[in-house]
Amino acid sequence: SRSGPVMLSVISNYAVCITAHAITHQAGYLAVDEYVRSGMVIGLGTGSTAYFAVERVGQLLANGKLKDIVAVPTSERTRAHAAQLSIPLATLDEHPALDVAIDGADTVDRGTLALVKGGGGALLREKIVEVAAKKLVVIVDESKLSEGLGPHFDLPVEIIQFCQTHIRRQIEGLPSLKGCKANLRMPYVTDNGNYIADLKFDAPIADPSQAAAELSDTVGVVEHGLFLDMASVCIIAGKDGVTTTHA
Ligand code: 5RP
Repeated sequence: SRSGPVMLSVISNYAVCITAHAITHQAGYLAVDEYVRSGMVIGLGTGSTAYFAVERVGQLLANGKLKDIVAVPTSERTRAHAAQLSIPLATLDEHPALDVAIDGADTVDRGTLALVKGGGGALLREKIVEVAAKKLVVIVDESKLSEGLGPHFDLPVEIIQFCQTHIRRQIEGLPSLKGCKANLRMPYVTDNGNYIADLKFDAPIADPSQAAAELSDTVGVVEHGLFLDMASVCIIAGKDGVTTTHA
């Protein structure tokens, strides 16, 4: 019968999920334990890994080990999670300088700690908040590590809805992105009311700084998911434990 192999495959996928969950949990908790102190203003990232950092801040506030924290969330999802845990929230308008921000990533370049972010669609708020932080602590499992950026995970770019096909064609024609395919993420609208184009690459982006500059110069692009020269620390959860790398 076919039920045997199918069942085995379901069980083994479940095991992989449990393992990934357990290790990213460690990275999220460690980031808070190591880098968040009472009295800080902190940025809270978005995604399944950042979720654990938010959870840990909530725990430490509840048991009194952290006090006087103010947090700036990077998405409505994170805002709701943090509010549920009674974490005091603010915006950059009230607190323009953050002590630390903690967030996940879709790709981390091993050599430079340059990141691709936006798989969860929150890249614009993540970038605004994280450039305002003295320190950006990135938390990932080891599957996110890569040599270079591009083929490992499609590069998300937030674009306006108006003439989105035209904007995606413009992106595909940028000199530093030649050969990429800009696919519209559907159905998806960001917290800011925009669309996401996911750029697919067959080879690593040769010059990420140039690509970032060309994307930023494209009318209709709101922000891109290249986070270059931003991460100070990367906490990597692997099957053999957690390691920390500094930029
Ligand atoms: C959201 C992001 C996330 O940080 C990124 O997608 C990683 O998410 P996860 O930890 O769930 O893999 O950039 O916009």
